[in-house]
Amino acid sequence: MYVVPTAAIVPAAGRGERLGPGAPKALRELAGEPLLVHAVRSLWSAGCVDLVVVAAPPGSVAAVEATLLTAVEDLRLVVVEGGGTRQASVAAGLSAVPGDVEIVLVHDAARALVPAEVVVRVVDAVRAGAGAVVPVLPVTDTIKQVDADRVVATVDRSSLRSVQTPQGFARAVLESAHSAGHSAGGHDATDDASLVEAMGGEVVVVEGSTEAFKVTRPLDLALAEAVLRSRPNAP
Ligand code: C5P
Repeated sequence: MYVVPTAAIVPAAGRGERLGPGAPKALRELAGEPLLVHAVRSLWSAGCVDLVVVAAPPGSVAAVEATLLTAVEDLRLVVVEGGGTRQASVAAGLSAVPGDVEIVLVHDAARALVPAEVVVRVVDAVRAGAGAVVPVLPVTDTIKQVDADRVVATVDRSSLRSVQTPQGFARAVLESAHSAGHSAGGHDATDDASLVEAMGGEVVVVEGSTEAFKVTRPLDLALAEAVLRSRPNAP
């Protein structure tokens, strides 16, 4: 069977200040290894990604490359220096994706424990013809719109979804979306699907996972350790 070449870009150049002072977030340790190692291993072990492109914190390209190649068996890897915003880091990764790659995933290093089935669902939906795909979960909290310290409205949550990564794209769609976003002067999109939406493109949703949460605050690190311990091959 002909398999469409697939690359995954991992923006990992953020400071992660909400985690507290210290190393860039992607290099903080979870169970003795950097979050980035867990994230890349999660993507690679899904078995449907042919190349990982990491956008690393400035000054750490060689160290990140050595760490990942040691930690993840048989990994095919390119490491580039990230930019000043997430969007710029993804664009730097995209410019390093080889010409034969037709499907591109973008996955936040901070979503270190994404289960393989989510990666496979996203890739399968792009292979089936979607230009852009996002994994989502229903919103469980009641959501209110506020103005300063007053509630303005309660939003109907039945049509709301929280969005995770990896997000998957036909390569041409992601490239057009980034160049349109750049030309329009926007540089701080918090995800890539929003750039596709901004140019009028369709974005398809597939089911995400509670285990694909983003490690943002100190409590998330404790939760991530608990998730790792609960997995069958835990040490
Ligand atoms: O800050 P936030 O958690 O939204 O960042 C999402 C992802 O984007 C993280 O994996 C982070 O490392 C990455 N990022 C980046 N370059 C930046 C800012 C964030 O690669 N300049």
